[in-house]
Amino acid sequence: MNPVNHVAIIMDGNGRWGIRHKKSRNAGHKAGLKSVEDIIKISIDYNIKFLTLFAFSTENWKRPKKEINYLFKLLESYLITKISEFHKQNIKLKIIGKKKFSKKLNLLLNSAEKKTSKNSKIQINLALNYGSKFELVNAVKKIVKNNYKINEKNIEKYLYTKNLPDPDILIRTGNTKRLSNFLLWQLAYTEIFFEKKLWPDFNREDYSKIINRFKKIKRNYGNV
Ligand code: IPE
Ligand code: IPE
Ligand code: MG
Repeated sequence: MNPVNHVAIIMDGNGRWGIRHKKSRNAGHKAGLKSVEDIIKISIDYNIKFLTLFAFSTENWKRPKKEINYLFKLLESYLITKISEFHKQNIKLKIIGKKKFSKKLNLLLNSAEKKTSKNSKIQINLALNYGSKFELVNAVKKIVKNNYKINEKNIEKYLYTKNLPDPDILIRTGNTKRLSNFLLWQLAYTEIFFEKKLWPDFNREDYSKIINRFKKIKRNYGNV
C-alpha cells in the first residue's frame, strides 16, 4: 500500500456551481469554502502531512475585478475567523506564490504563517497568486545570480516547495483535464485524478475513494 504524504488539489468548478445553484459565480466561491474545511479535516484523519490547495493562479488576475475582489475579501474574512482554530488544531499554514496583495491581506497572511509556523499536525500550502512557470523562472534566475550549478537539486532549493516531498496525489475537480500552470516540476511522478464533480460538491466519500485507489497503484518511477 502506498503511503500518502502529500496531496495537491486544483479546486476547480466554484463558478459553475454558483451559476447553477444561485445564478452567481461568487456564491460558488463561498460554497467552496465548506469543501476546503471538510478536506482539511479528512486529510488530518488520514494522517496526511502536506495538503497543497490551488486557490488563485497568476492567470486568475484576468478575471473581472468584481470576482477577484470578492475572492480576496472571502479569504480575508476566512483567515480572520479561522486562524486561531487552525492554530489550536496544530495546523501549519504556508503561502506559496507571490505575496502581492493589499497591505491588509499581506499582513494577515504573514501573521498567519508566523503564528502557525511551529505546528506539526499537517502543513497546508495555500497556492495564492501561484504560477509554476514564474516559480521556475525565478528559481533559475536566483541560481544564475549566485553562480551556482544548474541542476535538479539547486532548482528544487529555490522552489516554494523547497524541503517538501513531491505530491503523491493530484486531484482536479470540475471535469477539466489540465494542469493550468500548477506545480509542473513537482508533479513529475504524481498520480493524477480528474474528478467530474465541481469543487463545492466534492465530499468525504469522493476523497476517500481517490485515496483508496491511489494506495493500490504500482508506482514505477521508470523502473519495472
Ligand atoms: C476555481 O473555480 C476557483 C478559482 C479559480 C478561484 P472557478 O472559479 O475556476 O470555477 P469554474 O471553473 O469557473 O466553474
Ligand atoms: C485553476 O483553475 C486555478 C485554480 C483552481 C485556483 P482555473 O479555472 O483558473 O483554470 P483554467 O483557466 O480553466 O485552466
Ligand atoms: Mg475554473
